[in-house]
Amino acid sequence: MNRSEFFKMIGGSLAFWYMNPSFVRAMANPEFTKALFGEDFHWGVTTSAYQIEGAWNVDGKGESIWDRFSNHEGHIKDKATGNIACDFYHRYHDDLKLLKNLNFKDFRFSLAWSRLLPEGSGKVNPKGIDFYNRVIDDCLALGIEPWVTLFHWDLPQALEDKGGWTSRDILGWFSEYAELCTRSFGDRVKHWMVLNEPTAFTTLGYLAGIHAPGHRGLNKFLAAVHHASMCQAEGGRIIRSNVPEAHIGTSFSCSLIEPHKAKPSHQKAAKRIDVMMNRLFIEPSLGMGYPVADLPFLKKLDKFMQPGDMEKLKFDFDFIGLQNYFRVEAKPGIIPFIWANRVKPDRGKVELTEMGWEVLPEGIYKIIKQFSRYPVKEIVISENGAAFNDVVAEGRVHDSQREHYFEQYLKQVLRAKNEGVNITGYFAWTFVDNFEWAEGFYPRFGIVYNDFESQQRLVKDSGFWFRDFLK
Ligand code: GAL
Repeated sequence: MNRSEFFKMIGGSLAFWYMNPSFVRAMANPEFTKALFGEDFHWGVTTSAYQIEGAWNVDGKGESIWDRFSNHEGHIKDKATGNIACDFYHRYHDDLKLLKNLNFKDFRFSLAWSRLLPEGSGKVNPKGIDFYNRVIDDCLALGIEPWVTLFHWDLPQALEDKGGWTSRDILGWFSEYAELCTRSFGDRVKHWMVLNEPTAFTTLGYLAGIHAPGHRGLNKFLAAVHHASMCQAEGGRIIRSNVPEAHIGTSFSCSLIEPHKAKPSHQKAAKRIDVMMNRLFIEPSLGMGYPVADLPFLKKLDKFMQPGDMEKLKFDFDFIGLQNYFRVEAKPGIIPFIWANRVKPDRGKVELTEMGWEVLPEGIYKIIKQFSRYPVKEIVISENGAAFNDVVAEGRVHDSQREHYFEQYLKQVLRAKNEGVNITGYFAWTFVDNFEWAEGFYPRFGIVYNDFESQQRLVKDSGFWFRDFLK
């Protein structure tokens, strides 16, 4: 074979491959597998106690602010309550088996403070301890790693009656609770998270009044912010001293904030929203103090500070939990103190979820990059997911939109990881359709469908997608 014949042959075979449709498809979308994320990557789902457990007054559990808030007519859409929710309290065993069958190896759940300490402090409820022992032991028996969140919004009502997060006494109450949890479960649980999205529960529950306990007021909000920030660090210290080899984090709601228009006034509005939504809790934990310079009304936090607090706000977390759901387009506006507004995404122009949140896979990449500029050791994507209008047809839920959502978001997570960000896990929100706070049961976020009448679980196509992806 001479040189020209050789090149003809190479050219011919290249042409064959280029024209082969499966080759073309593979090139356009190279095989996307979990192996690309590395062997040690954690794959899990996240849930929270109030949203799934039910059994709100069973076996000695005390009332939480969400029990009170949801049973009080008018707060929740369709008058829904979490009294039964997904009945995980009684069905945890089958649910964990199902999770295992979908090939997940990590399960993030929260402890209901008032199930363990019905009055918030003082007398311990042994049946509450037993319940979480059973859940943890079941996880371990199934080869699933438990990730425990200490606080996912369901404060004991007895503590709320004494001022809740607005009272500095919460530092003592929270420490007692964290001591109890770590001493009871720390022999088996290694992954711990202190708070779930402090920005969300302080703004929605203490400023906007749309989540429990329904307060509206700047002073209450600022008090709650400072006390939650103090507990965030103190919780970390308690875990560190009680749990050998603990992997300790806390989670933040992380949303990409962009100016609606490329004008200085829009850019400044975006910066102010960014402070409120993204910077308020992470910066003090890193020893940077509150981001007062970029949002002067935060100076009022001084009112709640005591000597030595600045130091106590710091804790050296092993990882941060990054939770991402939407982007905010900001413009100048009338929201007091922030003087900015959110531009509602237009359903005609962009894809929206049932919550009205824009589907923007690149948003997660950009927000990961933003948070990776902080000196954090490790990032775990501890919540990401979407509610869509799921329909059961002939025993199946073809939620291709959600399937696509996860695939596209995961590709952007991988992109950030490949660029060197130390991302070590991804937790989908959520496992089973559950009680979505003020929205009740209407938005379905699960990869498993729940029939709330019969409590029958039905794996959606997105659940099967994960099963195959994680095989
Ligand atoms: C998060 C929250 C979850 C869940 C999710 C979807 O902010 O931590 O509990 O409700 O949003 O809205």
